[in-house]
Amino acid sequence: MQIYIEENYEKMSQKAAEIIAEKIKSNPALILGLATGSTPIRTYEILAEKYKKGELDFSRIKTFNLDDYLGLDFNDPQSYHQFMRKNFFSKINIDLKNAFFPNDFGSDYEKYENKIKESGGIDLQVVGIGRNGHIGFNEPGSAFDFYTREVELDETTIKDNSRFFDDISQVPKRAATMGIATIMNAKQILLLANGENKKEIIYQALKGPITEKVPASILQKHQNVIVVLDNEAGEKIKT
Ligand code: F6R
Repeated sequence: MQIYIEENYEKMSQKAAEIIAEKIKSNPALILGLATGSTPIRTYEILAEKYKKGELDFSRIKTFNLDDYLGLDFNDPQSYHQFMRKNFFSKINIDLKNAFFPNDFGSDYEKYENKIKESGGIDLQVVGIGRNGHIGFNEPGSAFDFYTREVELDETTIKDNSRFFDDISQVPKRAATMGIATIMNAKQILLLANGENKKEIIYQALKGPITEKVPASILQKHQNVIVVLDNEAGEKIKT
């Protein structure tokens, strides 16, 4: 596991964007796993800036998102389909036919897994981490051998994500998510975290025991993980 602790959110995002950009340059048909949430927003912006400058081409890229809420229309501004369009896809030359989400095939989640397999598997999976240790929406207690499926969101996750909604009652309670096994099958994983409120869980995930109580702790077993943190999120693992 390679760990970079950068000075601040901007530097963390630049580092993450550089790592992704280098992968795309060396493989223009890269299969990229993506995350939503606040953490990668600036990374996506920087990648879009690189595209604008003519440094990157996304025309042959395929993307697979980690998760999306259930019960929202794909056109709902709160859906992760729209999140990706707004924050990334509308700013680059990706062919939207090549951008996939776990709920694209109704509840046929095997079809999503098959799409990933047919494409040759995910080359680089970007993940964030929840304060409860979730990756994707694999909440504490999720078995490590689960693939893409429907899940119920934890109270912590609903509370944390309510900042994006007018009212906590509007936060969907169910989601479709890649499983831990899906994520672990990626050839490389890029974990991003920033902010003081992630320092404790980053410590548990990277230095604590590997346990289903902290889903992200399984990343310790992956052969090719890059972690990029800001100073605040990295504070506890440095000591
Ligand atoms: C998002 C996802 C989640 C987030 C996590 C952190 O697609 O799968 O696991 O990465 O909840 O969210 P932020 O970045 O908003 O702190």
